[in-house]
Amino acid sequence: MDAEFSLVELTDDLLPAVVLLCQESLDLPEDATEAAAIVARLRDDRPLPGSAERRRTVGLVARSGDALAGVVLGSIARRDPGTGHVDLLAVRPELRRRGVGRALLLAAEGALAGVGASQVLLAGNAPHYAWPGIDVRYTPAICTALALGYTPDGTAWNMTADLSDESSPALRGTGAGEARLAGEGVTVRRAVPGDLPALVEFARDNFGGSWDAEVAHSIGRPDAGCHLAVRTAAGGGDEILGFAAYGSSRPSWFGPMGTASAAQGLGIGGVLLRRCLRDQWAAGHSRAQIGWVGPVPFYAASAGAWIERVFFLYRKRLTPAAGTS
Ligand SMILES: CC(C)(COP(=O)(O)OP(=O)(O)OC[C@H]1O[C@@H](n2cnc3c(N)ncnc32)[C@H](O)[C@@H]1OP(=O)(O)O)[C@@H](O)C(=O)NCCC(=O)NCCS
Repeated sequence: MDAEFSLVELTDDLLPAVVLLCQESLDLPEDATEAAAIVARLRDDRPLPGSAERRRTVGLVARSGDALAGVVLGSIARRDPGTGHVDLLAVRPELRRRGVGRALLLAAEGALAGVGASQVLLAGNAPHYAWPGIDVRYTPAICTALALGYTPDGTAWNMTADLSDESSPALRGTGAGEARLAGEGVTVRRAVPGDLPALVEFARDNFGGSWDAEVAHSIGRPDAGCHLAVRTAAGGGDEILGFAAYGSSRPSWFGPMGTASAAQGLGIGGVLLRRCLRDQWAAGHSRAQIGWVGPVPFYAASAGAWIERVFFLYRKRLTPAAGTS
């Protein structure tokens, strides 16, 4: 039997209650702990680098009496206005299996269709994402997706780096590596806001424009950061050879990182990675998530990281009447 609830659009005054709801409803502690940062990042609708337009987001809550029963957050894909993403769905544990999740997901589909989506992905909408897809341990969410007609659309995984103890391979010192790089004329340093234009250009030129916004979001936030490998350019100034960033998607998550192909093999990546992980350790994280990986052997060798979180991605084509049934 359906619970007594009504759906209303999420407004900013409800955000503290939504954070509380997520703290109580995201069953995995590592997600519940970061609920405030997750909600803030997913609701951030400021224009992305290189765009004048605000990001298109949708948000709905289910109200049951005076309390919130559930929430759904969604957004339109950065590069494809015809694709919507559901970024977060959560229902209070004691109110599950009463149709709240179904109603929220259908309403989100309708709202996304209303701003131009013809398909919806249950997959991360980088640079604003909290998960690449649905963590396989959220079994009820996977059941909900299948019940609502979503079809599998790939798998993604994170790697975990242990930051609980300074003897962890993830926190191995970088002094020797940096000295070796200095011998090659390469300097390693923390990125500052003044690096942003060159860094965004570097990420775009070398990695096809999928990481520039994530890199940009890692600079200037108190719970994020970025390290660079640079060489003095012929005309003076720094030529960027590689970067590693953390905290863009979530404070405890690492990535993206990239070294220009001509500079690969010098040991830049391992040094930049561990400098970021050391920052995250200093900020109090006992584990870091290397998100949406990537080169598994590199992270295993450079930081002793292991594959842990696995995500299923889903897709659904919307019919013109999406969200109305
Ligand atoms: C996923 C979640 C939002 C579902 O909310 P809900 O209100 O319980 O969902 P509904 O009652 O509308 O269920 C819709 C359908 O999904 C399926 N379903 C949901 N939970 C299920 C479960 N535990 N077992 C089997 N099927 C399930 C069923 O087909 C159900 O329809 P039915 O009850 O008529 O059989 C809720 O379990 C939740 O908040 N989980 C934790 C957060 C989470 O995993 N979020 C996803 C990551 S962002």
